[in-house]
Amino acid sequence: MKNIIILISGGGSNMAAIVQAAQQDRWAERYGARVAAVISNKADATGLQWAAGQGIATAVLDHKAYASREDFDAALMQVIDDYATPESPPLVVLAGFMRILTPGFVAHYAGRLLNIHPSLLPAFAGLNTHARAIAAGCKFAGATVHLVTAELDHGPILAQAVVPVLPADTPESLAQRVLSQEHRIYPEAIERLIVDLLQK
Ligand code: GRF
Repeated sequence: MKNIIILISGGGSNMAAIVQAAQQDRWAERYGARVAAVISNKADATGLQWAAGQGIATAVLDHKAYASREDFDAALMQVIDDYATPESPPLVVLAGFMRILTPGFVAHYAGRLLNIHPSLLPAFAGLNTHARAIAAGCKFAGATVHLVTAELDHGPILAQAVVPVLPADTPESLAQRVLSQEHRIYPEAIERLIVDLLQK
């Protein structure tokens, strides 16, 4: 069994899209892959309740309870690595997880740690991507799924989706348009990566 661990900090709509795709497209039967756990650094992340309602294991690791970033990441690695199986290490999916991870964490999961970022990387790494795209006069915006490397919001691009920026757009309306595309490309990119990993 290949275990997928999803890390969230909030609403978890990408996480829900991935869980639904895994069910609809029968990832368990076809690839032996399942979303095994959803972990949040915030106890009030609403996505946790949704995941629990789907019968998925959930865990909260409050980063404020740890003395350092390294300590937090070490604890997180321990929880995630409980889901390693004899056949394969877990696939770690960042879905609105609002923490910068240490180089040690990133190296530990190299090649099986993914993120989705709400811009067309390499444009607009970091926060407030939609407001920045509007302020720059961009005619198009979008989202990027990428493998995580030590540099924030960089790393090999696995998928992108493009949406128009409309004249009346606010950061919120643009975010909604981008988010609906995120829900499409993230599960697709994860499925492709699982297929690739199975062939190795
Ligand atoms: C998404 O726009 C994602 O790209 C960004 O944070 C948002 C998370 O939304 N990193 P959700 O929690 O998946 O609903």
